[in-house]
Amino acid sequence: MNVPLLRAEGLHCAYPLPGGRMLRAVDGIDLTLARGETLAVVGESGCGKSTLGRLLLRLEEAQQGRILLDGTDMRGLRGAALRAMRRRVQVVFQDPYGSLNPRERIRDVLVRPMLLHRLCTRAEAERRAAALMERVGLSPAQLDRLPHQFSGGQRQRIAIARALAVGPDLIVCDEPVSALDVSVQAQVVNLLQDLQRERGVALLFISHDLAVVRHLAHQVAVMYAGRVVEAGPAATLFADPRHPYTRALLEAAPRTDTGPRGHTALAGEPPNPAAPPPGCRFAPRCPAARDLCRQDPQPALREIGPGHRAACHFAEALPPFTALAAGAAAPPALAARIAAYRAARDRESAAAATERPAPCA
Ligand SMILES: Nc1ncnc2c1ncn2[C@@H]1O[C@H](COP(=O)(O)OP(=O)(O)O)[C@@H](O)[C@H]1O
Ligand code: SF4
Ligand SMILES: [Mg+2]
Repeated sequence: MNVPLLRAEGLHCAYPLPGGRMLRAVDGIDLTLARGETLAVVGESGCGKSTLGRLLLRLEEAQQGRILLDGTDMRGLRGAALRAMRRRVQVVFQDPYGSLNPRERIRDVLVRPMLLHRLCTRAEAERRAAALMERVGLSPAQLDRLPHQFSGGQRQRIAIARALAVGPDLIVCDEPVSALDVSVQAQVVNLLQDLQRERGVALLFISHDLAVVRHLAHQVAVMYAGRVVEAGPAATLFADPRHPYTRALLEAAPRTDTGPRGHTALAGEPPNPAAPPPGCRFAPRCPAARDLCRQDPQPALREIGPGHRAACHFAEALPPFTALAAGAAAPPALAARIAAYRAARDRESAAAATERPAPCA
């Protein structure tokens, strides 16, 4: 059997609150990511997406569970083995202002990780930094600039170049385009997708924007109140969602494409993670809830189709999902922009037939 690139099993992370209560930000998460694929993690603000990302990066320690990279538990690694793991798993955060040192020149941002991981000589690192700048659509002539001399979209390109500099197998992208203008979002998303194809890097793509997710994800995990409530191939989840929460997100999504960001169309509020309701945590907002739903234990995440899992007592009994089909005549606005951008860029690159720099590591 093929060992997946990444497998998380039973991850828990709780923060202590005054009065001895615990805020369960991540409350028993299992997920799998294959080599070279994109797993999108979606859900409303506060459901635990960023905490999950930090656990996978080991920026924070899970209190329970296992994080297997190529079958090896990352939670047990120390010293040189931990350093090697850190090279293989990189990150792109939402806010490139916050993640780039304002006083560090871009040359150092890109060269330092290569030297830190002893991947090559300084001269070779400099050459690779210049090639990476070109690959992400910037100029090597800009290597001596400081972060504030770039736009938000350019800074995110630099963050992507920094992640790629050490030849990772996986990049955790936490809302990487949410802070960017919509036209710039399309370019950055395209760049990530192209780089994935070229280099076979897997992406764990955290987002609340289902248009972007629909465009680039192979697999999707929907999170609610610290848990995965539905997971499976993107095509299956968008065509036949079997959890009422996924349906509610999808029904809200077309409005978020053109309107303000966020799932304003979704009624009600997520539960307080320090005091979730008994039974299914979605029950207070669920149009399909019955008495059973309000009783412990909460519904388990279980297989309901090939590779498709849902944590709902009535997943199979839900009526066919038609809301998205009704709105699907016009493709999501962002996907249309991405397609237009891709077509334009493909024409340019065919004309220029430029040589791609060699992969960095
Ligand atoms: N360091 C922390 N200390 C206490 N609570 C936290 C901390 N980080 C996150 N939380 C809480 O954990 C929950 C999940 O947060 P987060 O992972 O940031 O969600 P998301 O990224 O989905 O918006 C939220 O209720 C948040 O307030
Ligand atoms: S278990 Fe019940 S409350 Fe929870 S999502 Fe399913 S139908 Fe709704
Ligand atoms: Mg977050």
